[in-house]
Amino acid sequence: MATRNIIIEGNPTLAKKSRSVTSFDERLATLIDDMKETLVQANGVGLAAPQVGVLRRVVVVDLGEEIIELVNPRILEQSGEQDGLEGCLSVPEKFGMVKRPNYVKVEAQDRHGDWFEYEGEELIARCFCHELEHLDGHLYTERAYRMLTQEEYEDMVRQEKEQEEKA
Ligand code: NI
Repeated sequence: MATRNIIIEGNPTLAKKSRSVTSFDERLATLIDDMKETLVQANGVGLAAPQVGVLRRVVVVDLGEEIIELVNPRILEQSGEQDGLEGCLSVPEKFGMVKRPNYVKVEAQDRHGDWFEYEGEELIARCFCHELEHLDGHLYTERAYRMLTQEEYEDMVRQEKEQEEKA
């Protein structure tokens, strides 16, 4: 396994539509393993293949106890609404307020091509929506109704640091 470089907002690859995966081969397995390692090292929640410069429909999401792999994912059902802060590894040091469904059910293939369904609420639902949009060339910043100011961002980072020190 190896980590890959995460590309940043402004790179034209992030605005392109990814193609479906059709070969469930060693190359796909290596891409997924590398994406997992890259996600863990970057301390992120989710990562989509275009963020490492690969225009294929592959997403990894860290659920805490495991990292799930979604190949050719699509949303089957969604309901409810949540409103909250969102960030992206390709948009460093920025956060914005985004409304998302509170519940999402996706179907996807695993690295062997077998289909499965997965459902999640709150952060998981938010993450699925965010990552799947990367596959169509969209960033959350297009959807955010408000971005945090530099001052608000710095306050947030300071508060997180204080909480970590208390813990
Ligand atoms: Ni992102």
